[in-house]
Parts: sequence; structure tokens; C-alpha cells
Amino acid sequence: MTPWWKHAVIYQIYPRSFADASGDGVGDLPGILAHVDYIERLGVDAVWLNPIYPSPMRDMGYDVADFTGVDPRFGTLEDLDALVDALHRRHIRLILDFVPNHSSDRHPWFEASRRESGGPMGRHYIWRGSRAHAPSGDLTSIFGGSAWSLDPERGQYYLHSFLAEQPDLNWEEPEVVRAMQEAMATWFRRGVDGFRVDAVTALAKDTYLLDDGTRPEAADLREFLHTAPRSPLMHRVLRSLRAVADTFGDRVLVGETWVNRIADLAAFYGDGDELQLPMNFALMEAEPTAAAWRTVVDETESALGEGRWPCYFLENHDIPRLPARVPDPELLRVVAVLLLTLRGTPIVYYGQELGLWSPPVPPEAQQDPVGRDGTRFGRDGARMPMPWTDAPGGGFSGAAPWLEIPPGYLRHAVSVQERRDDSLLALYRALIALRRSRPSLTEGAYREVAAGGALAYERLAPRERTWVMVNPEARPMRIPGPGGEILLATRPGVLARDGEIWRLEGRSAAIVDVR
Ligand code: NOJ
Repeated sequence: MTPWWKHAVIYQIYPRSFADASGDGVGDLPGILAHVDYIERLGVDAVWLNPIYPSPMRDMGYDVADFTGVDPRFGTLEDLDALVDALHRRHIRLILDFVPNHSSDRHPWFEASRRESGGPMGRHYIWRGSRAHAPSGDLTSIFGGSAWSLDPERGQYYLHSFLAEQPDLNWEEPEVVRAMQEAMATWFRRGVDGFRVDAVTALAKDTYLLDDGTRPEAADLREFLHTAPRSPLMHRVLRSLRAVADTFGDRVLVGETWVNRIADLAAFYGDGDELQLPMNFALMEAEPTAAAWRTVVDETESALGEGRWPCYFLENHDIPRLPARVPDPELLRVVAVLLLTLRGTPIVYYGQELGLWSPPVPPEAQQDPVGRDGTRFGRDGARMPMPWTDAPGGGFSGAAPWLEIPPGYLRHAVSVQERRDDSLLALYRALIALRRSRPSLTEGAYREVAAGGALAYERLAPRERTWVMVNPEARPMRIPGPGGEILLATRPGVLARDGEIWRLEGRSAAIVDVR
């Protein structure tokens, strides 16, 4: 039996911004529950929620103060149970975020660790040096500035890959491994179907890297993404998490595996005992050209081979939304076809199906933290409230939303797009439905078909062949290939048969059932 997550389309929801039921301007779990019909109509198989845990929200929930609770801003454990239930009744799975690399500095573990170096939590975090001696080999944090902060209470420095309020956990300490495994198991027992594991490459802090300040590659934690695939510690962590998932059966671990070389992705699968779906950032990073996409897909296919399942996405909560890279609305339709027809599990970010963009957010309204060196990450624009209707406020909340909805969003609201057969939302729904109905698209092999300025590929199942042709160029392309029935096109009439050749209009894409 093919595992469910290979067939799945995953829908990423930023809980703060999906829908607010409590009326405080911040999205919450009951808000998501109120929109499960929308999620079902979209046709997705799983929902991934960004962190919902109790948190001081210095990094919007990625600073976790309790790994097994729900922040009151988002609701209660009962709300989470109700959401799991409602989704499961619709055969939709729930994936939570899991943040193994760090906790909040308000986590009771850290508070105990800073108080008593010799106490039971003394080694839960990565402590070095003393008041008089900073740790050797200063490391730069991923969020800028030094990754070491002096804790006045303990009189030692602690490591933080991100903000100073996000101390890194010490995975060399067996009690940390056990406690984090138990946190994960708690959610599995509640019916959660998987996790998206945060900041996987940051886990690669093997002692030798930390303590040998002379290693040039260890000078900047951002560089750990080069060394992570070779880190024995990181692999141990992933294996320990996967072991928990496997005891529950049928659960999935997706991972935030941001690496510079596609070839490095293979390492995160371990020997089939680490992540099932390490995220491939390369498609998101690629220019919208056939040549760039071809390179990404070719490299991915050859790095992973048939045994490892790819995981693609184009947007998430950390990067400007697609229109920043793909400014043409027709191209947004083309990339939707690409994402949903490649071999692998695609992730769609809430609002991507509406064509939302990342508007500039004035500095005084920004909620995203500022790095120690003054760096503004500017991620608020990718985290705007979802426009459900075109009424003022967009139907997101009865109160002023935590970020003001740009007026232009209302024209892209769900209610507006649902009235139109030619909307981007309608295209996403049609694509996801088509994908579901065709084994070649969900689990078939991938074979590239030479097509010059366009990208054409075939997906092959034992009794089914599907051709996909995507043309990001402004000019039409001629693609030689077998005839068949056109199943979907980004616009009616963009694909036509001319003898033995397909003619595909510029900035368009189509899917054909080839006999
Ligand atoms: C990656 C998350 O996606 C990002 O939002 C967060 O700031 C960092 N990890 C730190 O947890």
C-alpha cells in the first residue's frame, strides 16, 4: 500500500491569519474549524499548521514555552481535538509544526537550566564559557549578531541559532531526547498525523563544530546548512523522532531542510529511517523559466532516485509570496500546474490559491522580530489575514485584524473567486481534483520530454499516461508528441494540435491524457 502522504496535497495554514472566531483580531483554531468545508472543497489531503503552542510570540510561535499545549490566543486543547475530528471526518490529516532546535527562554526547562547548572535541567541547553570568558570562535546567529548570549543568572553563555529568546536545546543530553520524543508522542496520541520539523539544518551542532572555533565553516550558523547533511548529531535527532512516528504507524515527518545543493537533500531521508518528506527549496528559489525548472527537477530526480519521494512548494510564511517572483497572473496559473503535477508531494500555502501577494508593511506595524544586528526580516507581508469576502475586513475577524488587510486583497477574496470559473481558485480546485483522479499524477514515474523553451514531461502509471506541458515564455511553443484528450488547460484554447505537434500558447500550461 502506498502511504497516504505520497498521494497528498498538503495545505499550509498560518493559524494567526486564516480566520478569527474569538473576535480578537488574531486567527485561531475555531476559525480554522469554521472553514473546514473550504479546505475540503479545495481537495487537499492534509493541513499543516504553523506553531500553535503556548509562546511569548517573539518569533510568532517558533519560540515554544510548552511543547504539549495550545496557546490561549489560538484556543484550547479541546479546540485542537475538535479540529482533528472534523478534518478526519473529511479524510483530511493534520500535521503540526515541531520545533526541536530551540525553545522559548520562558520555557520552564530554560528557566531551570539558567538557575542551576548542576540541576536536572542544567544540560538541557548549550552552555559555554563564563562571565569572564566568552566562548571561543564567535558564531553568528541565523537571525544576525552573535549566537552566544551571556545569561547573568548562570554566569555562562548559551547558544541560540535564532533570537536570544530562542535558546538551542542540547540534543547530546539524553533527557532532552526523551522529553522531546514524549512531546511528539503526546500529539500522536491525540490523533495528529504528522509533523513539519522546523529548522532541521540548525540541529547540526555536533560538539566538534561548536568547540573548535578555528573551523571556518562554523563561523556563521547560516553555514551549517552546508555541513548539516554530514552531521552525525542531526541524523541521530531525526532518527529519534522518526522512531516515535513509526511506533504510531502511518504518520509523516516533513522537514524544513533548506540546503544549497539539491544533491544534499538525499541525506535527510537517512536509510528510510529519518524524514519521509524533506522539503525541496529549489523550486521556490528557481527563476520562472523552463530551463531553471528543468534543472531543478532533473537534479531532484537524479539525487533522490525512485526510492525517495520529493516534496515541493512555492510559498511559505518566511518568503515573499509568489507574485514577487512571478509577476504575471498567467504565470501564476502556469506554476500552479507545475507544482501540482511533478512527482512528489506538493505543499500549497494558504492564500496561494487566491494569488495573494506580499504587500509592504510599514515598520511600525511589523510584528516580525528584528535581528540583533538590526536586520528586519520583513516576513509580515507573507502572513496577511486571509480575505474570505470582499466586505471591509474581508470576513477574517469581527475586530481589527492583527495586520491590516490590504484593500486590493478584497478583489481576490474567496467569495469573489468562487463566483468565477476562470479564477485562480477554480484552477487550483480543478488541478487538485484532476490529480486525485489520476494515479499517473499522484504516484506515476516522471519522464522528461524534450521541449526547448517549454517544459514537457510525462507521468506514467501502469495503465495511464499523462503529458504535462508548461510554457512560461511569452511566445507560443511547438511540442512534438502523441495526441490525446486535453484534460485541463490554464485557459480554454491555449493548446491545439497541428499534425503531430502540440502548439502551446505563451504563458500557459496544459495536461493531456495520452493513449
Ligand atoms: C523556520 C521557521 O519557518 C521560521 O519562521 C522561524 O523563524 C525559524 N525556523 C526559527 O524557528
